[in-house]
Amino acid sequence: MTQESVLEALKNVIYPGFTKDIVTFGFIKEVKIEANSVAVVVDITSSAVEVRDELVKSIDIELRKIGATDIKVAVNQPKAPRQASNSVSGKNIAPQIKNFVMVSSGKGGVGKSTTSVNIAIAMAMQGKKVGLLDADIYGPNIPRMMGVNEQKPEIMGNKVLPLKAYGVEVMSMGSLMESGQSLIWRGSMIMKAIEQFLRDILWSELDVLVIDMPPGTGDAQLTLAQSVPVTAGITVTTPQEVSLDDSRRSLDMFKKLHIPTAGVIENMSGFICPECNTESDIFGMGTSTVMAKEYDTTLLAQIPIEPAIRIGGDTGMPIVYHKADSITAKRYHECASKLIAFMDEVNESGGASNAQIQPTTPPGVSACSTPQPAPKKESAESCGTGCGCH
Ligand SMILES: Nc1ncnc2c1ncn2[C@@H]1O[C@H](COP(=O)(O)OP(=O)(O)OP(=O)(O)O)[C@@H](O)[C@H]1O
Ligand SMILES: [Mg+2]
Repeated sequence: MTQESVLEALKNVIYPGFTKDIVTFGFIKEVKIEANSVAVVVDITSSAVEVRDELVKSIDIELRKIGATDIKVAVNQPKAPRQASNSVSGKNIAPQIKNFVMVSSGKGGVGKSTTSVNIAIAMAMQGKKVGLLDADIYGPNIPRMMGVNEQKPEIMGNKVLPLKAYGVEVMSMGSLMESGQSLIWRGSMIMKAIEQFLRDILWSELDVLVIDMPPGTGDAQLTLAQSVPVTAGITVTTPQEVSLDDSRRSLDMFKKLHIPTAGVIENMSGFICPECNTESDIFGMGTSTVMAKEYDTTLLAQIPIEPAIRIGGDTGMPIVYHKADSITAKRYHECASKLIAFMDEVNESGGASNAQIQPTTPPGVSACSTPQPAPKKESAESCGTGCGCH
């Protein structure tokens, strides 16, 4: 037996719940061979005991096939997260989901969807049951980024089964519409769509649902926050001052909606040269730290501009999974761990609540119907507040 033959054999061990093997994932840290004895050290990202047991069993089987008789497997795992349950007050129309993460930004195109995809997969790789909801009804990009853009979800009765990719349950308006089709959204339709995503999709019992929001602070954000208790809000920003200005609005929205703010992700922060791996500053770096402090929160991650991130998005091969050993993948993993710890903290101190932001008008009555004059007969225009009353 040689190092090569052992690694070749270990390539037959698939990481539980995924389609890739533990060698390709870069989980093998050490292999020692002495005659027919083999000792293997494996570092994995999941804290689940079942994952460890399954790996030890599969490694043993594969190494015996190549003649090893004395096999020792040491599996290093992160500490098991504390099992805190989300003790909820207020309204939750998807009670089988323990935690909701709202990924927001003030500006479009700063990398919300890319961030949502990579942190959702990172949390799944860390042993969580994760769903990813593309609530960007205007520009649903998640299906392509997750590589499920050719798939149509199955319907069961009057419910829809989420698609599955990279260990994550996925649903998007893009999967429910023909590609290239557009819809003109009114306020009331946005609210209905968000509610249906939570109520009529057959999500499993999830630890966490990551929700990729449309840019800005509008009806979608308010409806989501009123429908489920959001455990953690994340603001994605790029480092330029013009982007930070808009990001402050997103952080302010979390405050107004009583959403616990997990932190800021500075995306497109520096550039990692694919040739020499050196990191250089393009849009500025680290500017978000000051803003995070202003809002009493932290910088969760600095993600560089990297061609592999864009290519990963365009081809449905997210970097955190397909380049698991890269600097960027490691930063997404650190960010996911911080987010999990943050949610545990929120839950331990009583859980998220949306009780304070419930609508005060009776069901079916628009929030602006009382103070507004009755619409003139010939006009079908809205009252102008964006409440969706027409
Ligand atoms: N760190 C990065 N390095 C390189 N390319 C990136 C990075 N982050 C995002 N991109 C690319 O930038 C584009 C915009 O990113 P993305 O779609 O995630 O932004 P968004 O905030 O969700 O946009 P929108 O507001 O339109 O929904 C995508 O093509 C994506 O692949
Ligand atoms: Mg997007």
